[in-house]
Amino acid sequence: MMLFLLGVFSIAGCASVTVDKARTTTPTTPTTPCGNCTADGLWSLWEFTSTQCITSWTWTEKTTYVNGKWSHTRTKVLLNCGMYGRQPQIRTCLSNPLGCPCKGDVVRQVGCGSATVCSIKELPGIDCAPGYVKSGSICVQSSPPPPESNITAEINERCVLKPNCACPKGGAWSDYEWLESAPCPTIPTYLYSQNASLYKPYEACGACQQQLQQRFCVSAVRGCPCTGSPYRLMRCNPTMCTFPLFRCCNDIDNIKQQVNYSTKRYECLPTPIDKWSLVSTQTDPYASNSTCFKDLQIG
Ligand SMILES: *[C@@H]1O[C@H](CO)[C@@H](O)[C@H](O)[C@H]1NC(C)=O
Ligand SMILES: *[C@@H]1O[C@H](CO)[C@@H](O)[C@H](O)[C@H]1NC(C)=O
Ligand SMILES: *[C@@H]1O[C@H](CO)[C@@H](O)[C@H](O)[C@H]1NC(C)=O
Ligand SMILES: *[C@@H]1O[C@H](CO)[C@@H](O)[C@H](O)[C@H]1NC(C)=O
Ligand SMILES: *[C@@H]1O[C@H](CO)[C@@H](O)[C@H](O)[C@H]1NC(C)=O
Repeated sequence: MMLFLLGVFSIAGCASVTVDKARTTTPTTPTTPCGNCTADGLWSLWEFTSTQCITSWTWTEKTTYVNGKWSHTRTKVLLNCGMYGRQPQIRTCLSNPLGCPCKGDVVRQVGCGSATVCSIKELPGIDCAPGYVKSGSICVQSSPPPPESNITAEINERCVLKPNCACPKGGAWSDYEWLESAPCPTIPTYLYSQNASLYKPYEACGACQQQLQQRFCVSAVRGCPCTGSPYRLMRCNPTMCTFPLFRCCNDIDNIKQQVNYSTKRYECLPTPIDKWSLVSTQTDPYASNSTCFKDLQIG
């Protein structure tokens, strides 16, 4: 049977990619046809990138006034309990090579580490990580995770896009973006209260925590895969801590309390956004070059 499909067709959910479908002939004994571009594309299952569980932490601070002098100490306390650990999982857009982009996040974080309810005597209020609830002495997920898709991809090599120009080296990435599912941890810094002889939750501040970010391989949908990781962790919540807390978590990354000359105020600088720019350094020079990306063979 002969099939004549000529002209421009646009792929669902893919405003920027227009592909001229080449004239094709379907074989008399049909092999696996080229998959449909479903609205959400076709994702692989989630997989761990590493077996490492990233332990979460909080800070405790003690301020004492002795012989006319203030003395501050700050200690990082690892939370090896309550499922506070975080482990990224990624998935791959299997339909990208067919010119069909996927919708949704490419990375997510899942809780990991010890499920035992945190009971750190000096640190009240830390039981279970967000998304987990106490069940006896164990933290359990408050709502079950959504079921994984069962679809098995059968990518027909005959349908895979082949660009007419050389692919950008390493592929082209989108800007980094925040994930709604992974907000900046709101674990407060704890301040020692001499009166009560315990630490009291104070505030989340000072770029003291880290947050997951994702980026997308934008050239994959034009037949150019990317190298590198689709996620990173970046310091977040840069608002300066209020006295008597230390103003910024300057333990790593050189983020310090410094004067911002334009606002004439102290801030935690450089801000995470300045230090870890969100803007992609690997853009696709061929993104809008119809010479490179027309007449891609589909089917
Ligand atoms: C494409 O979609 C149609 C309608 O849903 C379906 O009948 C067909 O089997 C699909 N083809 C492939 C290759 O998935
Ligand atoms: C996945 O497939 C298995 C067996 O084929 C089935 O028992 C299960 O319900 C399916 N899950 C979903 C989410 O469709
Ligand atoms: C500590 O105790 C003193 C005197 O008993 C009181 O004035 C002060 O407000 C208390 N501070 C806190 C943080 O409770
Ligand atoms: C100083 O503050 C301005 C205005 O809030 C901000 O745009 C700028 O990034 C800050 N300067 C530095 C060095 O971060
Ligand atoms: C598109 O790519 C081709 C091949 O690399 C090049 O010759 C041409 O100048 C490009 N066109 C534009 C508009 O960038």
